Amino acid sequence: MSKEVLVTGGAGFIGSHTVIQLTQAGYTPIIVDNFSNSSPVCLTRLEEITGQKIKYYEADILDTPALSEIFKKHDFQFVIHFAALKAVGESVSVPLKYYKVNVGGTVNLVEVMSQYGCKNLIFSSSATVYGAPQYLPLDEVHPTGVGITNPYGQTKHVNECVLRDLAKSDSEWNIVLLRYFNPVGAHKSGMIGEDPKDIPNNLMPYVSQTAIGRRECLSVFGSDYDTPDGTGVRDYIHVVDLAEGHVKALNKLEESCGLKVYNLGTGNGYSVLDIVNAFSKASGKEVPYKLVGRRAGDVASCYSDPALAKTELNWVAERGLDEMCEDAWHWQSKNPNGFETPPPGKL
Ligand code: UFG
Repeated sequence: MSKEVLVTGGAGFIGSHTVIQLTQAGYTPIIVDNFSNSSPVCLTRLEEITGQKIKYYEADILDTPALSEIFKKHDFQFVIHFAALKAVGESVSVPLKYYKVNVGGTVNLVEVMSQYGCKNLIFSSSATVYGAPQYLPLDEVHPTGVGITNPYGQTKHVNECVLRDLAKSDSEWNIVLLRYFNPVGAHKSGMIGEDPKDIPNNLMPYVSQTAIGRRECLSVFGSDYDTPDGTGVRDYIHVVDLAEGHVKALNKLEESCGLKVYNLGTGNGYSVLDIVNAFSKASGKEVPYKLVGRRAGDVASCYSDPALAKTELNWVAERGLDEMCEDAWHWQSKNPNGFETPPPGKL
């Protein structure tokens, strides 16, 4: 029988792409999402893409009784925990909300998992736990928790600590911490993709909304960094590559791996202007931009050493920057207003 995988935040950007990969790998994903930063329309799209009914529950990870009920109804072998708040700027103004949802939500979830004897977890961590890089590329032994500049990043670090302590206390737990670099792109179908509810904080959705005409002009935050063109350098990774990394991590859990940590990145650094140029090429649209001051908390460069995931998970990112931009543009141009775009004929 196909193994059931609970996917918290499964209607979100990375979660939804992972749900597709899970079905393709023969798992049965069950989604829990409160739709605070996602749309139920995504679920219909997932069913169209996969040709399968996707089971989901509208529930909050802070709602312990609701989680318990869901665990009662299923036989989860694994949990992939995406559900979290992720706006860096907002986390500075409302830190308690971030600690409550991101840390409190994780603690709740693993408590319920424990009660129901499901002790296999993949956790969505972030390159943000490395703080300002002491060296590049960032490998998994680079110090973490030092110089993190915002509460969002702290919550990822604290969650890593919580889960490490949990694994130490009970050898039945198998936990994979995946440190994502900068996920972009979209599924080839153009039916799902990144759909920020407000003004995008992240570069790629801002660029693509500018190309489609929803935003006037991109502000490039900082042009005096010590990088080839002075703008910030990041390790952008196609979201489908990232999703595939989760299936590989599930295989690792199947080996009863204890606690493991992997970077999921490409190892390549691209600047903000590289992204603007690649996106213009992919979309055939100009992306107007202006150079402005640095954004507080940003670092000059951040990119991964993805070698460990290659050796231990047999995973490498396969999709390059052009494909990331083409797929992001395909999604954006088919759905100018994201999941709220009315279907053709209903405009
Ligand atoms: N940038 C702009 N203009 C914008 C948005 C971003 O110039 O409107 C620049 C940033 O200054 C940075 C680069 O584009 O140089 C990437 O910025 P993003 O906000 O897209 O991504 P970050 O690297 O800042 O943040 C990402 C994730 C966070 C995570 C962080 C560190 O969004 O969740 O990586 O791992 F914490």
